[in-house]
Amino acid sequence: MMRDPAPEADARLRITCVVGARPNFVKAASIVHAARARTEITLRLVHTGQHYDERMSTLFFRELGLPEPDAHLGVGSASHAVQTARVLEAFDGELDHHPSDCLIVVGDVNSTLACALVAAKRGVRVAHVEAGLRSRDRSMPEEINRILTDQLSDDLFTTERSAEANLLQEGVPLERIHFVGNVMIDTLMRQRKVARQSDVLTRLGLAPRTYAVCTLHRPSNTDTVESANNSLAALEALSARLPVVFPVHPRTRARLADFRLLDRALALPGVRLIEPLGYLDFLALMDQARVVFTDSGGIQEETTVLGVACLTFRDTTERPITVTEGTNHLVGLNPFNTGAELDAILAKSATKGRVPELWDGRAADRILDILTRPNRRRETATDPGSEARLPLP
Ligand code: UD1
Repeated sequence: MMRDPAPEADARLRITCVVGARPNFVKAASIVHAARARTEITLRLVHTGQHYDERMSTLFFRELGLPEPDAHLGVGSASHAVQTARVLEAFDGELDHHPSDCLIVVGDVNSTLACALVAAKRGVRVAHVEAGLRSRDRSMPEEINRILTDQLSDDLFTTERSAEANLLQEGVPLERIHFVGNVMIDTLMRQRKVARQSDVLTRLGLAPRTYAVCTLHRPSNTDTVESANNSLAALEALSARLPVVFPVHPRTRARLADFRLLDRALALPGVRLIEPLGYLDFLALMDQARVVFTDSGGIQEETTVLGVACLTFRDTTERPITVTEGTNHLVGLNPFNTGAELDAILAKSATKGRVPELWDGRAADRILDILTRPNRRRETATDPGSEARLPLP
């Protein structure tokens, strides 16, 4: 009698992809979708639970077509140290039960750093997507997360060429650095048409190109009475010129309430404070805005691709290409400058800028190509078709 052949060992690459906070979902979505098409990979999606609300997490999974996470670590909110520690412990257990060949972490949130640290100490290859960005401002928690995650990583995937110079300066070997483009923009390109069906403008009674969108949630703009007051002064400068829609992040709402500033914010004429929006509504709102006012990182990149002017309410940006090539203006923290920069933008009929190199919707595929190469060696993705600078849509 013939015997069944012994089952062959599964030769597929076991990738664990971690998400924790809102911007991670947008970035990981393109990796998850690209991985689905590949038979040589098994991908396990782990949600640390850093963000957990319907509006901050569940809605994003639904809209981005992300599957239910294979594991949910449920860490929740806490101080940076406690939140990081919870992720360290929980993710260690996750890897005990589900060994992995490669960990993909995205961005710069606490979950990114914590999971990279666990994997590096266990000898699991760490791939950092969006590596090498530097604001050179170590008072930003994200800057600490970026520097440390990059030091722990085996493969560093960059979105712009300035990142490679930053990494080399910090001693990262050139062969680990791969310039691949921007996974957040992959998602934007995939979803832009769908977002155009959103009725968010009608719901808010807005006409295209007549309003500003505002998002502020960096601790440096919300976490002291002085900085929160300063943010409201900037908001006043904006709303003196254009109606403003402000989807308020939960930490911003909480700080405004702590400082008894919420009533003042709610009473600002021309400013609509609303609950955080889902991905599609927010994309639709940005796409049709006259200007976006923000302290977010990702929004500086999204507005560059949408061709919408962006005023960044910060002294530094870790994404310089959005200023040199895109539509971003770094206005600093003086509300007077915000008004002056907005006046300059409103005086022009067109927003100038171009889409940066390799921001073409194919970054996730390039990343998976590199991770699955049998004898991986350093290679900068150079796709002649996408090297050409694209005009803004
Ligand atoms: C985190 C990231 C930041 C990112 C932002 C996007 C770090 C260090 N910061 O900041 O880089 O830009 O996410 O949103 O990782 N909260 C809720 N519901 C939630 C999640 C949070 O109400 O689902 C509230 C809690 O009160 C919490 C506060 O928001 O204490 C802050 O959340 P946390 O994840 O600690 O930091 P973010 O400010 O969201």
